[in-house]
Amino acid sequence: MRMLVLGGGWFVGRALVMAGHDAGHEVTVFNRGRSAPPPGPVTVVRGDRTDAADLRRLAGHGPWDVVVDVHGVVPRQVGAAARVLRGVVGRYVLVSTVSAYRDWPERAVHEGSPVKAGDPDADPEDWSWGTGVYGQLKAGAEAAAARAVDEQRLVVLRPGVILGPGEYGGRLTWWLRRAAAGGELLAPGASGDVLRPVDVRDLAAFILRLVEQQASGTYNVAGPVGRDTWGHLVEACLAATGATATVRWVDGEWLADQGVQQWVELPMWRTAPGTWAIDTTRAEGAGLTCRPLVETVADTWAWLSAGGQPVTTDRESMHGLGLARERELLERWRARLSAR
Ligand SMILES: NC(=O)c1ccc[n+]([C@@H]2O[C@H](COP(=O)([O-])OP(=O)(O)OC[C@H]3O[C@@H](n4cnc5c(N)ncnc54)[C@H](OP(=O)(O)O)[C@@H]3O)[C@@H](O)[C@H]2O)c1
Repeated sequence: MRMLVLGGGWFVGRALVMAGHDAGHEVTVFNRGRSAPPPGPVTVVRGDRTDAADLRRLAGHGPWDVVVDVHGVVPRQVGAAARVLRGVVGRYVLVSTVSAYRDWPERAVHEGSPVKAGDPDADPEDWSWGTGVYGQLKAGAEAAAARAVDEQRLVVLRPGVILGPGEYGGRLTWWLRRAAAGGELLAPGASGDVLRPVDVRDLAAFILRLVEQQASGTYNVAGPVGRDTWGHLVEACLAATGATATVRWVDGEWLADQGVQQWVELPMWRTAPGTWAIDTTRAEGAGLTCRPLVETVADTWAWLSAGGQPVTTDRESMHGLGLARERELLERWRARLSAR
């Protein structure tokens, strides 16, 4: 299979390039060349997706059986690429997100749940994580792809949280570094609370599986229901780093009342009831399989310990709780318990 990856250098795209290469596919990547070169023998086309001439030049390298737009967030950019490439590709895959759903994380979502009102022509001059527009832009990006490509050829992935080697969001990487520091560790909620991240390599394998099956439509992607808990995550981080820590489970509602910023200060923690209520029946039916969380955690630590450097974005720095603030919260929590 000839596969084109728009992006390919940071995390999801990189895992996809590796998976495509391992599966014997002929892979082309398109990016500006600022990120690390892709692994393996890959055809590299340098260019900027915001530049129409670069996109036209890229199309001249086709045809491909599939293009995967991994990087796309800005609707106008997603639409522009889809219009230029649709004549030289078979299947068109867009990596979107559960954040595109109108009601996530407040309510459970399935593929038919309403999405945010996204404008397929939106082209914000500048946008950044934390500005609250990401989900809306991704909904617009989906609409832009759907306008350009027939639905029989279009696949849209809506993953929840993606973890694994190469992660640059500062979620698991933050928890690993925190575990490695040992001491008294504040863990949110209860050890039995669920979470359902997906390993980036399992997402990549799933994308390839969908393309091989000539699938179309929308697929939520998250870890298995009822398998992983916060207790497993924290234990796996301690085991991977070899650190010892006294884990203090602190009530989630109380943390929220203290103003702890959910999803950000304690990455992946959120009290909203729909956070992990992502229906993945469709993806499982199409062959999504998920490795054990402990493997994701261990491999991410191995990658970090071997000098793995996440790409620098404004995203990683958003995440995490300072040690001083953690200590202060733990003291307040202890005082509350003893006052009871
Ligand atoms: N992380 C999560 O938990 C999560 C959850 C749900 C969905 N997602 C989605 O998953 C995807 C993750 O993508 P990723 O960042 O890991 O993808 P990636 O394909 O590994 O990396 C992004 C690539 O885009 C290239 N790029 C950036 N600006 C460009 C431009 N103007 N023109 C051409 N290339 C450009 C970068 O290379 P250069 O800098 O060299 O150009 C880089 O190779 C995103 O769509 C995200 O919304 C993530």
